[in-house]
Amino acid sequence: MMNKVVYPGSFDPITYGHIDIIKRASKIFDYIVIGIAKDNNKTNFLFSETERKSLIKNSLSSIENIEVKIFDGLLTDFVKQENSNIIIRGLRVLSDFEYEFRMALMNRKLDDEITTMFMMPNEKYTHISSSLIKEVASLGGSVDDYVPSEILVELNKKLNENSK
Ligand code: PNS
Repeated sequence: MMNKVVYPGSFDPITYGHIDIIKRASKIFDYIVIGIAKDNNKTNFLFSETERKSLIKNSLSSIENIEVKIFDGLLTDFVKQENSNIIIRGLRVLSDFEYEFRMALMNRKLDDEITTMFMMPNEKYTHISSSLIKEVASLGGSVDDYVPSEILVELNKKLNENSK
């Protein structure tokens, strides 16, 4: 049986923290579907879903056992649709725990066959998030250590467009 997992998120934009989790997961599981959620608790996205999808694809071109998809509706429905029963989420700091714990249990209530598994990224990335990266970059700070160079280019381009 193929071990296929879903790694969902907003990825606005993908960071080295996400990439670290994906690389680790790609060595453990047979296939990873990276799911960009349309329905999210966030509203102000910098990149559109299609832009996020191509940014992810460009930064992960060296990994073969992955696929990037955009989904709407419930994550549990998407996981089933993908013939998977495992959700991968990254845990960075303790403050992530409560939100992740609530989501994992709600998802299990929605579908008892689906299990959420948590992975920790390299400690170099435990303090970063896409939101923090966008904030620092928009204020002129360096985020070179946290996103691939092709993402950095697109990030600065987008921030410049938005500031006009
Ligand atoms: O990267 P994020 O923003 O922390 O990811 C949150 C995400 C996309 C995993 C969550 O918002 C989600 O699962 N959205 C899909 C809709 C859904 O199923 N919501 C109920 C979750 S219990």
